[in-house]
Amino acid sequence: METPGSRTIEDIKRDFPIFRNRPNLAYLDNAATSQLPSMVLEAMVDFEVNYRANVHRGLYPEAELATNAYEAARAEVATFINAEPQEISFTSGSTASLQMLAAMLSPRLQPGDNILVSSMEHHSALLPFKKIAAERASMITTIPHDADYRLDLATFKLMLSQRVKIVVITAASNVLGTVNPIADIVELAHQHGALVIVDAAQYVPHLPLSVKAWGADAVVFSAHKMYGPLGVGVLFIEQSLGEQLTPSNLGGGMMREVTSSAMSYEDAPWKFESGTPNIPGVIGLAAACRYLSSLGWSNIIVREEEMTRLLIVGLLSLGDVRIIGSLTMNDRLGVVSFTVPGLHPHDLATILGEQGVAIRAGHHCAMPLTSSISPTGVARASLGLYTTAEDIARFIQGLKAARQKLA
Ligand SMILES: Cc1ncc(COP(=O)(O)O)c(C=O)c1O
Repeated sequence: METPGSRTIEDIKRDFPIFRNRPNLAYLDNAATSQLPSMVLEAMVDFEVNYRANVHRGLYPEAELATNAYEAARAEVATFINAEPQEISFTSGSTASLQMLAAMLSPRLQPGDNILVSSMEHHSALLPFKKIAAERASMITTIPHDADYRLDLATFKLMLSQRVKIVVITAASNVLGTVNPIADIVELAHQHGALVIVDAAQYVPHLPLSVKAWGADAVVFSAHKMYGPLGVGVLFIEQSLGEQLTPSNLGGGMMREVTSSAMSYEDAPWKFESGTPNIPGVIGLAAACRYLSSLGWSNIIVREEEMTRLLIVGLLSLGDVRIIGSLTMNDRLGVVSFTVPGLHPHDLATILGEQGVAIRAGHHCAMPLTSSISPTGVARASLGLYTTAEDIARFIQGLKAARQKLA
């Protein structure tokens, strides 16, 4: 099949060693983690075999190479999301970034203040803010969604007040595939003086991100969901907020001066990076940004929309399958959750797995949402930029077979 760009989908699939090694794998679990292209692997191996050294410390050539590559990666990631390099800190992933944000923002909360979270937050975004709300005698209130699983903006507007200090919102739901209108949410929240923290873990692999266009105060995402390595992520903090925040994690590499009675921090972003960072991971993340940019966003979007449509139409053709989330392509990604009456999602996923089709089943770390849909959770198929019509046909075929076997 031709992509709108110059490379065919077969070319793209060949970029990923796993598909050469496992040609029969229909991988539809990209919302959990995506696969790694050779160029990302090569960038990481290059560091490991040619200039492995710690950063910001050594004065010998390999250490300088490592530091330069690390800081160049910061600049590349900044460009990728339209931020400034000093606004980008590297962490171990979205979970770590969100925990740090919650810990650093906690001292700002007063008893009776309110944190708003959407109904579709991942536990990584929900739990750290639930914790600080409890510790600071603040409230945490859920912004509901409507019948089409879109955020209820009218209710959100009514919930805003001067007591709302923080809004936590996912840019794209890992269960519903819903894409939320972040720029509108930020504008409304800022009118009431609230900070907005955006979880972009599911958004970044599928759509181009401009943090400046969003206007958000903080944005997090993980490399491993965007064709980068595991164990590395990004914490974007808008510059003026970054200057104000006191780091929550202390250690080596982030202090300007320490005496027996006093200490002072480096500037952002280094003050947010305590200890030795995941240097090959950061270098790999920058390579993943280059990989995505080289394919071209319009090519990725057109292809993924086509595959999402195929997936939805295929599921609907089965008759009794319930898709959880919007059936229209507006503001939705190829993350599609569903239930089949009478069948446990784990059984479906197991039988599909036996046929070489990888999906996920369960509560997807979003239990407040998924348990309101079904006590046993939901099954989820999620696309990547390498997903083919054949992968989807095998998934639908496998689902039919699973249904017959389990009926
Ligand atoms: C929306 C969302 N936020 C946060 C996370 C946590 O990401 P990580 O496990 O990489 O820290 C995930 C992972 O599934 C997610 O889907």
